[in-house]
Amino acid sequence: MAACYWLPLLVIHVLLARSLVSSDPQDPARLIKFKTSLNNTFELSNWDLNIPPCAYESPNWKGMICNRDGSVLGLVLENMGLSGMIDVDTLAEITSIRTLSFMNNSFEGSIPDLRKIVPLRGIFLSFNKFSGEIGSDVFIGMSYLRTVELANNNFRGKIPISLTQLPLLTKLKLQNNQFEGEIPDLEQKNLLEANFANNGLVGPIPKGLSNQDPSSFAGNNLCDKPLSPCKKKVNKKNDVA
Ligand SMILES: *[C@@H]1O[C@H](CO)[C@@H](O)[C@H](O)[C@H]1NC(C)=O
Ligand SMILES: *[C@@H]1O[C@H](CO)[C@@H](O)[C@H](O)[C@H]1NC(C)=O
Repeated sequence: MAACYWLPLLVIHVLLARSLVSSDPQDPARLIKFKTSLNNTFELSNWDLNIPPCAYESPNWKGMICNRDGSVLGLVLENMGLSGMIDVDTLAEITSIRTLSFMNNSFEGSIPDLRKIVPLRGIFLSFNKFSGEIGSDVFIGMSYLRTVELANNNFRGKIPISLTQLPLLTKLKLQNNQFEGEIPDLEQKNLLEANFANNGLVGPIPKGLSNQDPSSFAGNNLCDKPLSPCKKKVNKKNDVA
């Protein structure tokens, strides 16, 4: 008889527990698959399918940032000596991911195609061995992106113009690469910190960046605020006159 009273309570309890844990049950297997394309994963040895990656907001697996509902908010795989391939397609299936850091590892080759993870808010790739040109459209459509850190790699070529189309961009770190050409017209009001130091950049600093610290432009061939004014081109007609 008593069970008749308890049963509805039990049902409510189960429903509540379910609504709290909204993480996709396939996500742990996706993370393990992602790990298989990395090399030197000694630091990730506690990634184990018998234990959930997150116990509510507490990470069980190394490198996880967890949401209160137990889903994975981000991966912070820093200072681990990792190399190999960053399997963006598999990460893109984990729909709760908002931030990815692979800083200070040994990743090489071209920038991963992180545009496939549209909701990303933070991309941290500094202090690796990434190289090559970055496609101009690499950040197209990433309208939630606030932080882009690509410093201390071997990127070269133009700074991707799609950075100018990130409405929420707050922090941009591109220092210590081999970027060339002019800085694109970054005008975002939220852009509090931008660093371009030690690249091969030339020409005028865009007006939207004139309030940045001068040291953020050191080691280039740049001019205008916050550095000294660009030299006016000599007007030949006037010279002759
Ligand atoms: C980078 O990672 C290595 C381990 O791979 C560590 O020894 C070193 O201290 C880290 N550097 C920084 C600046 O955190
Ligand atoms: C990763 O490890 C495999 C097998 O050990 C090796 O063939 C490959 O070159 C390594 N890749 C990198 C980027 O270190």
